[in-house]
Amino acid sequence: MLPIEIRPGIYWVGVNDRTTDLFEGLWPIEEEGVSYNSYLIDDEKKAIIDLSKAIKTDDFFDQVAHVIDLADLDYVVINHMEPDHSGVLRMLLRLAPRVTLLGTEKTRSMLEAFYGITENVRVVADGETLPLGKHTLKFVHTPFVHWPETMMTYEVSQQILFSCDAFGSYGALRGGIFDDEYPDPVFYEREALRYYVNIVAIFSKLVLQAIDKLDGVPLSIIAPSHGLVWREKPGHIVELYRRWAEYATGARPTEVGITFLYGTMYGNTEKMMNAVAQGIAEEGVPLTIFDVARTHPSYILPALWTQRGVMVGAPTYEGSLFPPMTHVLEVATTKRVRNKLVARFGSYGWSGGAQRRFEAMLEPLRWTLTDSFEFVGAPTDEDLRYGEEFGARFARLIKSEAQASDAQ
Ligand code: FEO
Repeated sequence: MLPIEIRPGIYWVGVNDRTTDLFEGLWPIEEEGVSYNSYLIDDEKKAIIDLSKAIKTDDFFDQVAHVIDLADLDYVVINHMEPDHSGVLRMLLRLAPRVTLLGTEKTRSMLEAFYGITENVRVVADGETLPLGKHTLKFVHTPFVHWPETMMTYEVSQQILFSCDAFGSYGALRGGIFDDEYPDPVFYEREALRYYVNIVAIFSKLVLQAIDKLDGVPLSIIAPSHGLVWREKPGHIVELYRRWAEYATGARPTEVGITFLYGTMYGNTEKMMNAVAQGIAEEGVPLTIFDVARTHPSYILPALWTQRGVMVGAPTYEGSLFPPMTHVLEVATTKRVRNKLVARFGSYGWSGGAQRRFEAMLEPLRWTLTDSFEFVGAPTDEDLRYGEEFGARFARLIKSEAQASDAQ
């Protein structure tokens, strides 16, 4: 995609990445891709806001060269030091050695730690403005959205917020960069939630602080570093972010629904999973089912984040919990997916052990165990009938808990 002028003198000069399999070396994006959105302001002074991952160095400099000669560049605004935003920096400084790098105090130390860069770095204060000519930049410190050095940059004349990771999503851009170029941006909304829960969510309190800090700031465009540029409905993505962050702080109840995590070795726990799911479905509670051995936690976390109930079906494996289930629960612990109601079932062959390990994992998760049962070997018809009622009972609990929190 060629550069796109999003407002007079302000260009998107981003690049799509469809070849990186794992974002942060961890989160799968081989099907979705990702964009590294960079923005260039061509004025009396010329500035680039955010850059690109190094894997796209050639493409990135080609984008910039379509608009200006890189040697004429005055400033690079480093909203965030993570290398998906800053990876081309060393090469840029070889091509434009007199450019001034702008960032927070923490950015200064990170520039040295990550790239050995100590010269031509200028620290900008929270709220400081920088006139470029017709355009003026204003810097808004937003620590831990996503790293401690992170800030956003606001262009005053056009009311554009360059929000960095905040309000961004996985997903390479599919021809258009603006929300109004997609009749149904559901893909980007889904991938914005996945990005949020995978990358940003443990800092939800600070996300809310950042959103509060923007209160009253006129926003005509939100231009994140990944995914869509929100031109038609900038407030929509802000409200989605507020909702996801409030789930973490408890300011907003999570959605009535159950995330059903199951794993099975030879199909016995799977048979029970179907019975339990039947019971849940009979109660009309939304249900999302994941086979934890075949689904990356990246795709499971959004459901866990947004739904208030978790059903766990996993067998004993070598005296402990089925390892793929342990892995998902450990990732959920790391990502601070907290305050869930949970029930568990599973099969065992001789001595068991899964339940003990599972219960030990609940304390750091801060999940409340409401019910559990185990069965030996293959489930009998009686076991399956019990499983169906077990699922229905848990679904009723989720509904009644939701009614109770609505009444508060
Ligand atoms: Fe887009 Fe924190 O990296």
